[in-house]
Amino acid sequence: MKSAFLGSLYCVLMLVGLGLSTDNRMPPKAPGLSHLYTVNITGGDAVPVGPGPRGTRLVVPILGGNFAGPKLKAHPPLGTVLPIGADWALTDANGVNGSLTANVRQTFKTDDGAFIQVFETGEVQPDGSAFVRLAYETGSEAYYWLNTVVAIGIIHNVDTNHLTIDTWQMTAP
Ligand SMILES: *[C@@H]1O[C@H](CO)[C@@H](O)[C@H](O)[C@H]1NC(C)=O
Ligand SMILES: *[C@@H]1O[C@H](CO)[C@@H](O)[C@H](O)[C@H]1NC(C)=O
Repeated sequence: MKSAFLGSLYCVLMLVGLGLSTDNRMPPKAPGLSHLYTVNITGGDAVPVGPGPRGTRLVVPILGGNFAGPKLKAHPPLGTVLPIGADWALTDANGVNGSLTANVRQTFKTDDGAFIQVFETGEVQPDGSAFVRLAYETGSEAYYWLNTVVAIGIIHNVDTNHLTIDTWQMTAP
């Protein structure tokens, strides 16, 4: 009896919740993007691991780099990309132009000594552009806000072993 009451109360609350969350504004407003940082990365020689159950794996070690941005030091001394991590990329033989999916883990060290773990995946687009999505993990009090950031980035290849990624934090409309 009591649980039936709680059940119907829950249903009522659900309906109220759905009613309140119904958003009739059309079209939806686009979120904003604020520049987080730009990073230059030096990669090592790619290791052609070859075909496997998920596609053809290509591993590119990260040798180092630097980053700077409005909230992550706009001026030298710059943050450092530690020589740890790699892109464990996959190519999809069925994708447009053998499309490449990046799967990167790397570690940043800020000029004030904080470590930031960076998780990044992304895809080469049919037109050749390369887009990534990023998430962060840090225990640093100064950069704790990064733990909830949803970010995207655009990769610019400088040459075979160097690339630049401009990253942007998503903000509410
Ligand atoms: C990245 O490289 C470019 C070109 O060499 C340079 O102008 C820029 O200052 C570098 N940025 C960082 C954060 O190292
Ligand atoms: C991928 O293939 C399409 C269709 O053949 C072509 O138009 C496009 O330029 C190719 N992109 C790259 C990056 O090669």
